[in-house]
This record gives sequence, structure tokens and C-alpha cells, in this order.
Amino acid sequence: MSMMMTQAATETRTPATRSVHREIMTMTETEHQPATDTHPEIDAEKHVLAVEHFRLSYGKTQALHDINLKIPQGKVTALIGPSGCGKSTLLRSFNRLNDLIDNIRVQGNIRFGNVDIYGKNVDVIELRKRMGMVFQKSNPFPTSIFENVIYALRIAGQRKRSTLDEVCDRSLKSAALWDEVKDRLHTSALGLSGGQQQRLCIARAIAADPEVLLMDEPCSALDPIATAKIEDLIHQLRGKYTVIIVTHNMQQAARVSDYTAFMYLGRLVEYGPTKTIFVNPHLKETEAYITGRFG
Ligand SMILES: Nc1ncnc2c1ncn2[C@@H]1O[C@H](COP(=O)(O)OP(=O)(O)O)[C@@H](O)[C@H]1O
Ligand SMILES: [Mg+2]
Repeated sequence: MSMMMTQAATETRTPATRSVHREIMTMTETEHQPATDTHPEIDAEKHVLAVEHFRLSYGKTQALHDINLKIPQGKVTALIGPSGCGKSTLLRSFNRLNDLIDNIRVQGNIRFGNVDIYGKNVDVIELRKRMGMVFQKSNPFPTSIFENVIYALRIAGQRKRSTLDEVCDRSLKSAALWDEVKDRLHTSALGLSGGQQQRLCIARAIAADPEVLLMDEPCSALDPIATAKIEDLIHQLRGKYTVIIVTHNMQQAARVSDYTAFMYLGRLVEYGPTKTIFVNPHLKETEAYITGRFG
């Protein structure tokens, strides 16, 4: 895969592919860009998030072009597409994590239930509590396993020991980490392996009682065994939580998700049931990507 990506990056410098690239760029910049091919199965679901004509620019660079998508509740949705296509930008737009970046401009809207995420009176802290985020590189705090998990409760001023213990136990069990750490809850989180640290971060997100879990390439720093554990965990979280996972690993998207959204050059190209996207996509662009012809 990385070989292919290197090759693709080199190829963009040849005149033939450069003109194709420019043509697609021009296409995305016109008002009359092709609409996303959204399969009817998506509309039949109950939705937790609805992205409507959403655009985002970093300074003068437009990273997202007229994105329209609805996220089914209680399902796992994967965002796939080549590096730089806007997957992380879109994911961070859901909980307004992009607000922390200077010079961004957004147009359009994202609705979360009946809340306009980009509306004037949105409580961003509350929003981020309802949407937990797990990053590529696990980021445990340099405190004990216990303190990491109950962080959100501490911030909220919860001091009742029985509540803290109960939430810690339940969150670690939900994150499939309990058995491995139950005898050392009060030791440093930094002593855990990379895969355990990532599951700890998931436990910490769960402890805040979110509705949606946003995961940005959560396994890309992990070995295959740790990756398989996180993938199993995503299966278990499905139903109780809505999961949106960014991955550049197509096998992973195929294994863990119910729905897959394929993005390219800041545009949402095709969005449908994972099986259809991987076996029988509607569009040539999607087929070219999933069969590894570019990426
Ligand atoms: N903080 C930032 N400032 C400026 N440009 C950014 C920033 N983050 C991402 N970009 C640009 O936005 C585009 C989409 O990036 P990103 O969302 O990270 O893509 P992906 O996650 O699919 O690799 C890229 O062209 C990238 O260079
Ligand atoms: Mg990214």
C-alpha cells in the first residue's frame, strides 16, 4: 500500500496524470460539481448527524466542497479516501475541533439531533462531551489508569467514590480492557502497551457518556494483534454508540463498518452500504480507488 502511494505521488508529476488531476480540481471548484452518489439504504436509516452543503477552507485552500451526508444512528460509518482528501477535516468538523485552527472558514451546516453544530449558541464543550474523539496516536494523560478513565467526571466535579469506581469499571469493561488492568488501576497509564493505551483512550471517551465516537485512524500506530482487538471492540460498541471511523486501510473499513463514504479531493464521491461500495460500487472513481489503482 505504501509502495503504491509513493508511486501514485510520483505519477502525479507526469504530464498525463497532472492534466487529469487539474480537470478534477476544476470540476470540484465549479458550482455544478457532480452530486454525491448516496445509495438509498442510507436514507432508510435513522440519522444522528446530517451534514448539509458543508464547505471548509483553511485560509485560501478549500479542503471540503459542498459535503452532504447523513450518519446512521448506532452504526459504524467509515470515511475512506487517499491522503489529503479531507477525511480528518470532516471528522473534526463534527465536534468543532477545527475551531482550534486559525483562519478556517465554514459554510453550510451540520445538524446533531436538533442542534445546529455551527449555530450561534452552541455549547462546544457540551458538544464534545456528546461526541468522544479517539486520535491516531493514543494520548493518555501521565496519571493513573483510573484517573484517565474518570477524567470527564473529575472535570464535572464528581467526587463520590462509588460513582467514580462504577464508571471506571464499566468504561474499562466496555473498552475490553478491564481484564488486563483490573489489578493495576492506580499505576501509571504510560506503562500500558500502545494497543492498551488506545483502548484506555476509548474507555475515557466512553466514561463521558457520549452518543457518537469519532475515531481518526485509531489503529494506524498499532501492530496487527492490537489492531484486531480494537476492531473487535468497534463491533461491540456498535448499536450502543454511533461510530465514525477514518481509515486509509480499506480492509479495515470493509471489516468494521456498516456504511462507507468515499472521499476524493475534498468531495464526497459515493456513500453506501460497505458491501456494495467494496463489491459493486456505482462509480468508476470509487472502483478505481478500492481496487488500488490510485491512492
Ligand atoms: N491545519 C491545517 N491547516 C491548513 N491546511 C490543512 C490543515 N489540516 C489539513 N489541511 C489540508 O486540508 C486538506 C485535507 O486534509 P486532511 O483532512 O488532513 O486529509 P486526510 O485526513 O484525508 O488525509 C489537505 O490538503 C491538507 O493539507
Ligand atoms: Mg487524516
